[in-house]
Amino acid sequence: MIILQGKGYRQVLKFVPMLILGIESSCDETGIALYDSASGLLSHALHSQVAMHAEYGGVVPELASRDHIRRVVPLLRSTLENAGKSLAEVDAIAYTRGPGLSGALLVGCAFAEALALALDKPTIPVHHLEGHLLSPLLSSDPPTFPFVALLVSGGHTQLMRVDGVGRYELLGETLDDAAGEAFDKSAKLLGLPYPGGALLSKLAEQGDPEKYTLPRPMLHSGDLSFSFSGLKTAVLTLVRERQAVAGEVLDEVFKADAARAFQEAIVEVLVKKSLKAMKQTGLKQLVVAGGVGANKQLRATLNDEARRKRFRVHYPELEFCTDNGAMIALAGCLRLQAGTPAKLAGDFAVQPRWPLMEMSVSGK
Ligand code: KG4
Ligand code: ZN
Repeated sequence: MIILQGKGYRQVLKFVPMLILGIESSCDETGIALYDSASGLLSHALHSQVAMHAEYGGVVPELASRDHIRRVVPLLRSTLENAGKSLAEVDAIAYTRGPGLSGALLVGCAFAEALALALDKPTIPVHHLEGHLLSPLLSSDPPTFPFVALLVSGGHTQLMRVDGVGRYELLGETLDDAAGEAFDKSAKLLGLPYPGGALLSKLAEQGDPEKYTLPRPMLHSGDLSFSFSGLKTAVLTLVRERQAVAGEVLDEVFKADAARAFQEAIVEVLVKKSLKAMKQTGLKQLVVAGGVGANKQLRATLNDEARRKRFRVHYPELEFCTDNGAMIALAGCLRLQAGTPAKLAGDFAVQPRWPLMEMSVSGK
């Protein structure tokens, strides 16, 4: 059953297979995808702005918005072409309404709403984090509800109990920096180019895990809260101490050892808190979503623990760990199937700040 709703208007439609177009533009990736409710993901296309922002050392919001404008139409064309579909066959348009950069979000929103108006199709505004949260359902071995989710992205670090679409309970979250933010800031301190998270983790593979030991913030706090700003400061202190004895320029061996020490610390905290959440809830499935979920050491350690403690860990496919259009199309489709009304096109509004718990019926 699909409910179509606008101001003073509500229509209940029977559930039929639907073709959902998904549009993601919340930060520095433009993602487009076509998801068929009956047969799954048909095609998707992505453009990353990483190379463009790299020379500025971080995302420049104005440049991000302009680049989304440049990319969105060609990406839509190739997505349709690869799926062998036409715009006329699209039943609804899902797009990221927030959270994210307001200008970047507005590009996706304006494009989606205008396209929907022209095609006379409804829209489904999607919460970006809900997209991440549900993205493991795109994999060939998807989890089933209920599960615990560890959401680790550039802007968020949360542990959640997920009982279904829109049925979320926050178990714990970071009090300051997000895990991805800690990766990126520590990478910058080690002189790695933006976005440093993935580069730092690659460098850490060559590092000696015994060389330095960094603090494990809030490991014994007794709850499921995180705090990573102190860990970043510990990396800064390590770098300063090294520079005091070896000069300003950091050598590759030091960088690799420091990267390894950072990764050992953050992975241990993320894993131990996830284990605590599994024990607390008694659930048998853990889902890891968001960019940091691509981290190899995090995956290897969680997999070992899961084997030992007899629970299963599910990850999105690597290409769907970071921002993409497929998770937005999927979240839009699942929302419709769960009875969330689609909207009449023409509501040009974004929500740059938007707590995920507002999407939860239980709202805990
Ligand atoms: O989910 P995402 O694409 O964007 C947000 O919604 O924030 O996550 C991006 C974050 C960045 O902080 C990036 O450094 C981090 O994910 N990241 C990684 C790895 N790949 C991406 N962090 C650790 N190890 C990785 N392999
Ligand atoms: Zn994201």
